[in-house]
Amino acid sequence: MLDQVEEVASQANAELQKISSPEELEAWRVRYLGRKSKLNNILRSLSDVPIEERKALGARANQIRSSLESSFSARKDTLESSATVSLERDKIDVSLPGEPCQTGRIHPTTKTIKEICNIFVSMGFQVAEGPQVEWEHYNFEALNMPAEHPARDGFATLWVDYHTPTGARPMLMRTHTSPVQVRVMEKRKPPIRIIVPGRVFRRETTDATHLPMFYQVEGLVVDEGVTFAHLKGTLEYFIRTLFGEKLKIRFRPSFFPFTEPSAEDDISCVICGGSANERRTANDERRKCPVCGGKGWLEILGAGMVNPKVFEAVGYDPKKVTGLAFGMGVERIAMLKYGINDIRLFCENDVRFLRQF
Ligand code: FA5
Repeated sequence: MLDQVEEVASQANAELQKISSPEELEAWRVRYLGRKSKLNNILRSLSDVPIEERKALGARANQIRSSLESSFSARKDTLESSATVSLERDKIDVSLPGEPCQTGRIHPTTKTIKEICNIFVSMGFQVAEGPQVEWEHYNFEALNMPAEHPARDGFATLWVDYHTPTGARPMLMRTHTSPVQVRVMEKRKPPIRIIVPGRVFRRETTDATHLPMFYQVEGLVVDEGVTFAHLKGTLEYFIRTLFGEKLKIRFRPSFFPFTEPSAEDDISCVICGGSANERRTANDERRKCPVCGGKGWLEILGAGMVNPKVFEAVGYDPKKVTGLAFGMGVERIAMLKYGINDIRLFCENDVRFLRQF
């Protein structure tokens, strides 16, 4: 029996070394120190052991029991202290301020497009869109700019080949949003009142007011009895709503093959206040306003009454209907609205610039 007691002791000690969780330790305690444990059974049956062995066996069993009890307490302490250490290590200070979440912003160009469209939508215009890669017919011919027309010079752009089973046909990156006028008129009968936001492309040298890819918003109204007074009134209402009453507006005669008569709308430059005065730099040099070039005015849109030839190209009767049309540069408008002195900032993706909107 003494052998059994020794075996229980060595087995219990070996198992105790491998224990790594409080649950395992509790199971060990029940197994080796509990009421139904082997050691307890041995102690309970001591009365059956011959008297000469009983004393030594009882003493040894009790000694082992108390040694297992102290091993159990020691192991318990170790496990509890390592749990405390890991709790301490993993603790979260809920009172610390959170990490700020980096939220994106609407790009100033997109913001301006939305503002422009909202004003026209409030006047009853519908938003329409068209393709950025366009047929020559829609970009030029249907807009009264046949091949060799000199006005095409102002619209140099990139050409691409559209491959068909019978060969390649030339297409171009649209130079303005005006082709959408034709596309809409081909599909619908008057009255028409649309606004067309979109990206356009030109072979331009980039500077403070020119980009090779920029945004325009086109407008078209076709109905019976539309006059130049409607055009002026619509654009003035739009400009005053967007910029406020203080800016000066001027209409200037101009030329577009697809409108007759044509005009350009300028507003006073917000950078130099329309003063056209030269500014003195830190080195006392005289420098012209980089945005308006010292003119005091900035062109924001082209406009006019739809040329009867455009109506003929889409099958409308120019004796029955008249129309007004306009096209504006979105970045130019955003520059004036937010006082930005270089159009290139819109496409540089500099977050220091973009965060301001
Ligand atoms: C046109 O594109 C005509 N389709 C506008 C039009 C529509 C006239 C309907 C009549 C009727 P224009 O080339 O002037 O016109 O361009 C219109 C506006 O786009 C300009 O007033 C200007 O604000 C802007 N713009 C023109 N070129 C650039 C450029 N390179 N970078 C940034 N904005 C530009």
